[in-house]
Amino acid sequence: MSVRNLVGRMIPGDLKYYMYSLNYYWEDIRRYKKYSNGYLSPNKEKILLGKIIVTYHIIEKGLTMPDMRPGFGKDALHTLIGLCHTYIGKQCNQQDDHFTHAVKLLNEYVRVHKALQFSLDPLLLEKIKALSERTKVMDTCSQLGCDNDEYFRHADSPFRDFAFSRHSIRNFINKPVDRELILKAVEIAQKSPSSCNRQPNRVYILENRENIQWLLESQKGNRGFGQMIDKVIVLTAEVGVFNGFTERNEAFLNSGMYAMSLLYGLHYYRIGAVSLAYVRVSREDDKKLRALCGIPDSEVVSMLIGCGHVPGKLSIASSPRYKVDKIVKVVS
Ligand SMILES: Cc1cc2nc3c(=O)[nH]c(=O)nc-3n(C[C@H](O)[C@H](O)[C@H](O)COP(=O)(O)O)c2cc1C
Repeated sequence: MSVRNLVGRMIPGDLKYYMYSLNYYWEDIRRYKKYSNGYLSPNKEKILLGKIIVTYHIIEKGLTMPDMRPGFGKDALHTLIGLCHTYIGKQCNQQDDHFTHAVKLLNEYVRVHKALQFSLDPLLLEKIKALSERTKVMDTCSQLGCDNDEYFRHADSPFRDFAFSRHSIRNFINKPVDRELILKAVEIAQKSPSSCNRQPNRVYILENRENIQWLLESQKGNRGFGQMIDKVIVLTAEVGVFNGFTERNEAFLNSGMYAMSLLYGLHYYRIGAVSLAYVRVSREDDKKLRALCGIPDSEVVSMLIGCGHVPGKLSIASSPRYKVDKIVKVVS
């Protein structure tokens, strides 16, 4: 027997498992640490742009809130202006659609407040004007406004129209969503593909007001509209059906695909819905949610979906997308 085999036999199975898996997890950690925005390279173009998008999205969402609070988002506005100047200073691409959208959104913020005859802080106005002049982006970008019928007018349309008509909804009326409708939407989501048809996805529907309120407070990404959400859907995936380190991300991948189908299912049944990230829920609250819903330790919680009925008139964040040629590379 070779020395290698001998040593291999002497190492307990569990330890071997951890040693092999470390390679894979280490590669995940390495890549994430090197390229994601929380760590070492705060000034790289992609990272700056990511921060610009996240920050302008706060303003964009604020502008669509049913009870928009004039003068909202002061910190986010100053942060966004600062990020834009850093972006320009680093010679990043000022033609990027998201960069120009950020400046247009700042201009839109000013326009909306002018229309409301609300006096904004002169320093803020000055800074927005200076940024517009520096970038030569003087126009605005309005958010989408529509009524309920218009929003769902493509619910039965061919898929292209249907898909383009779905948006995240952050404005709901005080009317309970029929549980049966959600279950019908889940039936559609059940048709999602899954790795080897292992169907790891599980769905928990929170109906109790107090539980919903508690979870949304913990979630944190629903300020200004969470109180209007009627039901919260918790999406999880069972890790137990996966095998080996190479499948370590499959639970989240399958759950993401499932979530999209469910969002389409809800849209089809004319239920407004918004995805809610599960990334800021503390470990303690994760435990609490698991106990509350009976979510076993073997499942990962991937995200939440808040849903409710859509009001007669509503405003929707425009959330522009990159053009296809920006993100596709054909390798022929
Ligand atoms: C995983 C995930 C997490 C999200 N979390 C939040 C959130 O916490 N709060 C929120 O208002 N929107 C959230 N969204 C919605 C996105 O902001 C939205 O999908 C994006 O801006 C595109 O807009 P659209 O859905 O209207 O097309 C999330 C979306 C995804 C996919």
